[in-house]
Amino acid sequence: MATRDLPALGGHPEGFAGSMRTDRWWIEPVLTVLVLGAFGVYATWAAFQGNHYYADPYLSPFYSPLIFVDSAAAVPGGAPEHHAWFGGHWPAWWPAFLPHSPAFFILAFPGAFRFTCYYYRKAYYRAFTGSPPGCAVVPTAKSRRYKGETAWLLFQNLHRYAMFFAVLFIPILGYDALLSFWKGGLPWDGGQFGIGVGSLVLTINVILLGGYTFGCHSFRHLIGGKDDCMSCGKATMRLKLWKRVTILNMKHQNFAWFSLFWVGFTDVYVRLVSQGIWTDLNTWG
Ligand code: FES
Repeated sequence: MATRDLPALGGHPEGFAGSMRTDRWWIEPVLTVLVLGAFGVYATWAAFQGNHYYADPYLSPFYSPLIFVDSAAAVPGGAPEHHAWFGGHWPAWWPAFLPHSPAFFILAFPGAFRFTCYYYRKAYYRAFTGSPPGCAVVPTAKSRRYKGETAWLLFQNLHRYAMFFAVLFIPILGYDALLSFWKGGLPWDGGQFGIGVGSLVLTINVILLGGYTFGCHSFRHLIGGKDDCMSCGKATMRLKLWKRVTILNMKHQNFAWFSLFWVGFTDVYVRLVSQGIWTDLNTWG
């Protein structure tokens, strides 16, 4: 009999979720199921809508960068074609059974980054598979045979590559936040400067996403964490950078949740302003 199949000795509980812990350890996995589950359902729904992702000058982060728009379809709340990287002609090869939603071109990248994040793995392994549900809590019988991230879970190594794409999204979302202060386009396009609640919503969004992305364990490894001696006693730029990344890394869990909530809220905000359900308070009048 393998060691992992032996019953625990010493009177410890043995059934799933049994524990001698007296604190409310179950709150964290329950919240994780509720929040991550709700976000997954909402993000999927929002991606399939393909409309109301733009309310001049605000672009939803679920649709940014905007690769193509379907200018022929007159999408409610759709962005004007000059906003799209490749204009307003929807690609002819697009499958007929899928809606013409620009979100489909980009959501896989932040999705893969979050799904394979080292912190989220811990959270959703505990919450969704109970392997184990918490420290010193009995796992499901199946997960007692957990072999680490080998076999099919090897795909989680994708994270180090998804990180490069996630980093690219930050200046793009930063540009969207900048554009959110100019209605009708940037100054040389005749845009008018102002501030709206949406400008603040988009700006907070990129700050939180930046904090999450630049606090990533893989990013910290890339900056210097992989070396035994990155400065060898000297105050190099690399060492300074690594220390700053480490500060973000220590708060990675907080940034993971706050940025998740805020990016979803930003889409809701743009969607409801675009539909005329919410009024955006701003200086444009
Ligand atoms: Fe969480 Fe990389 S470890 S984003």
